[in-house]
Amino acid sequence: MSAATIDGKAFAAGLRAEVARRVALLKERHGLVPGLAVILVGDDPASQVYVRNKGIQTREAGMRSDEIRLPATTGEAELLAHLHRLNADPAIHGILVQLPLPAHIEERAVIATIDPDKDVDGFHPVNVGRLSLGQPGFVPGTPKGCMKLLAATLGDLSGREALVIGRSNIVGKPMAQLLLAANCTVTIAHSRSRDLPALCRRAEILVAAVGRPEMVRGDWIRPGASVIDVGVNRIAAGGGKTRLVGDVAFAEAREVAAAITPVPGGVGPMTIACLLENTLEAACRKAGLPLPE
Ligand code: GUN
Repeated sequence: MSAATIDGKAFAAGLRAEVARRVALLKERHGLVPGLAVILVGDDPASQVYVRNKGIQTREAGMRSDEIRLPATTGEAELLAHLHRLNADPAIHGILVQLPLPAHIEERAVIATIDPDKDVDGFHPVNVGRLSLGQPGFVPGTPKGCMKLLAATLGDLSGREALVIGRSNIVGKPMAQLLLAANCTVTIAHSRSRDLPALCRRAEILVAAVGRPEMVRGDWIRPGASVIDVGVNRIAAGGGKTRLVGDVAFAEAREVAAAITPVPGGVGPMTIACLLENTLEAACRKAGLPLPE
C-alpha cells in the first residue's frame, strides 16, 4: 500500500486565500488593515529567505508588511527599543523577531519584550502559558499548521495514540499541548528516550521534529499511521548538489503509513499561512471584532 501524500503546499495556498478574503472584508467593513512587523538581525541566508517570503505573502494577503533589517552587530538595547516602538504602534498587530539571533543577544529577553497580544509567533511565556491552560492566545505557526493537516486528514483526533519526537519550544512542546487539547494520548520522545522504534510503532499519529535526516525508518511506522514530518534537512545528493529531506525516510514510510507529509511541500508552507492567520486574529482581537465571515 502507498500512503496518501498530504499536500501542505495546496492546503497552505487555500488557507492564505481564506485569510486574504477575510482581510478584504475587514478593510471594506471597518477600514482596518492588519499589520505585521518582522525584524531580522544579521544576514543568515536561510533567515533572509524566510523573511523575504513572509513579506511577500503578507502583502499578497492584503496586509501591511514592515521589514526591519538590522546589522549583526546591533546591540540588545537597540533591538528592544524597536520592539517598544512596535508594541506602541497601533498600525502594527503582529511582531515577529526572526530566530536565531546573534549570540550576543539574549533571545529570552527579546521574546519577553514583545506585547503578548502582538506575539503572533506564540513564543512569549504568556502565550505558552495560555496554550498550556487552554486559554485563547497565539499558537506557533508550525505546530498549528501540523494540527490543521491532521484535522483535514483524520477529522476527530480523540483517543488516538500520538507520538511527538522532539521537545523544542517552537515545535515539539506546543505540538504535544495541541494534541493533548485534541484529546490524543500523547507521548513526547527525545534524544534520551529508550527504544524509539518501539515508541513509534505504537503511534497512530507520528510527528517528527528532531532535525535528523531520515532518522525515522519505514519499519518504525505503525501500519495505517498518519505521519507529519517537520524536519527540513539539507543533505549531499552527489555531483556537488544538495537536496532537502525530512526526519522521516519518506520512500520507506509511505509503504506503511496511511498518510504522510512530503519534504518539501508538506508542513513548511503551513507555517507562514498560520502566521498570517494569527496576524489577522490579532488585528480583530485588538479592535474587539469577530473574524469576518
Ligand atoms: N526561525 C525558524 N522558525 C521560526 C519561526 O517560526 N519564527 C521565528 N521568529 N523564527 C524562526
